[in-house]
Amino acid sequence: MTGEILTIQVGQCGNHVGKHFWSQIAKEHGIGHDGRKIETDTSNGATKEIFREDDTNPFFKQYEENRYTPRAIMIDLEPSVINDNHNFFPGFFDDRSSWVSDDRYGAGNSWANGYDEGQKNQDTFLNMIDKQLDSTENFEGFQLLHSVAGGTGSGLGSNLLEALADRYQKKLLTTYSVFPSDQSEVVVQPYNTILTLRRLAEDSDASIVFDNNALLNLSGRVFQKNQTDYNQTNQLIASALSSITNSIRFPSYMYTSLQSVFSTLVPTPELHFLTPAFTPFTSDYVNGGMEYKRNTAYDVLLDLIDTPNLLVSRGTKKPIYLNAFSTVIGDIERNDITRAISKLQQRMQFAAWSPTMIHVNIGKRSRYLRTLNGSQNHVSGMMLSNNSGIVSLLEKVCVSFDKIYAKRAFMNAFQQSEIFNTDDFVESREVTRSLIEEYVASEEKSYLDEVLVEDENMIGNFEGGDEVDADGDNIM
Ligand code: GTP
Repeated sequence: MTGEILTIQVGQCGNHVGKHFWSQIAKEHGIGHDGRKIETDTSNGATKEIFREDDTNPFFKQYEENRYTPRAIMIDLEPSVINDNHNFFPGFFDDRSSWVSDDRYGAGNSWANGYDEGQKNQDTFLNMIDKQLDSTENFEGFQLLHSVAGGTGSGLGSNLLEALADRYQKKLLTTYSVFPSDQSEVVVQPYNTILTLRRLAEDSDASIVFDNNALLNLSGRVFQKNQTDYNQTNQLIASALSSITNSIRFPSYMYTSLQSVFSTLVPTPELHFLTPAFTPFTSDYVNGGMEYKRNTAYDVLLDLIDTPNLLVSRGTKKPIYLNAFSTVIGDIERNDITRAISKLQQRMQFAAWSPTMIHVNIGKRSRYLRTLNGSQNHVSGMMLSNNSGIVSLLEKVCVSFDKIYAKRAFMNAFQQSEIFNTDDFVESREVTRSLIEEYVASEEKSYLDEVLVEDENMIGNFEGGDEVDADGDNIM
């Protein structure tokens, strides 16, 4: 049985992204915004039973014959976004699954305020989480949705990550982390970002990295509007999330757990910062998505390594790939995949020690999307890759941090904190630098000679060989 995943959304960005994620996957599972399941197809005037090939259990709890609720927790220090989510999905979220601070003022963009609030309320959050876990039978792990630059998603999110890593050591802990754009809206963003990066490096098993530079550029092209907004960027993130989880929500033989997806991508515990790419964004995924001419899995897989299709910015240097995992959905010819893989192996430069494996999962297109959008014959694809291109983003974080920290600027909010110790700044910068060095070292042929490969180098709940390869694909 596929394990259950608990989604924890923290702060404005986390809860906004969560709204689009639930909207997308509810649509794919034929679940209405009120949690009721659509069992019949009436699109042609006639009513017929919809043949089910999905598994709702990993992401939804069924509590009546025809009623589903997300396995989700929504946390914020101010009420507007969570209220919006409840209004958008009336009766969908479990009442006990949301928490808003009594103060209702937010963290004022300070990581330290968010962290303090996280610490003060940690027991409440862990209790809420345990209540959600009571309704699971084979709990697999958590996914945290948040931004790294505000106060709540970053600070409270960091505190929660530490608590989860400590309390549920054997469970998979993944994050979907949104980095800020270069047009920094708040002066302390570099502080918030570096402090959060430390927790992502130390406590998460895999972090899927997005940044608003790449997302806003991509939105401009996908939606073809001059004005881009978070409503659009969040649909892009939700598309990636939907594809990453496709193989566990529409299970077949391979990649039936998130563990099996991420274990193909994370060679050592440090190197777990993953780059997402997606194309094309059709109406299956985004509102008003462009209609594309017929394409093939071959075209899509090759397009996925093009910089404009990445959801995180990359510097100009050609990245060295450690691993890649792709899901393609639509009208797929297997031969196209074989051809694309051999072409990609020539185009992508893999680290000499890496097995040059490009894992491709043929995902399933939901029958509910077919009912809504017709039988389009196009193909969409998502690629998650682990590559050294992430270094340019990490370097940028260090440079912006150094600029304000050199003058000890804007430290008031941090100095007033009850728990925060300013040594954390220096330590977090060191952690970020050593992460950069690790990725740079991973480009070298001798990298694995220097890394002691032990059992604990593998992510999550790997105690024995059987669990690693639960889906029998023998891919590590
Ligand atoms: P406080 O506002 O301090 O309580 O913290 P918060 O975590 O609620 O803040 P928020 O999530 O707004 O974090 C600010 C950062 O997230 C900035 O870099 C924003 O650009 C970005 N951001 C905020 N909302 C969204 C969103 O819906 N989508 C995307 N992509 N980015 C967002």
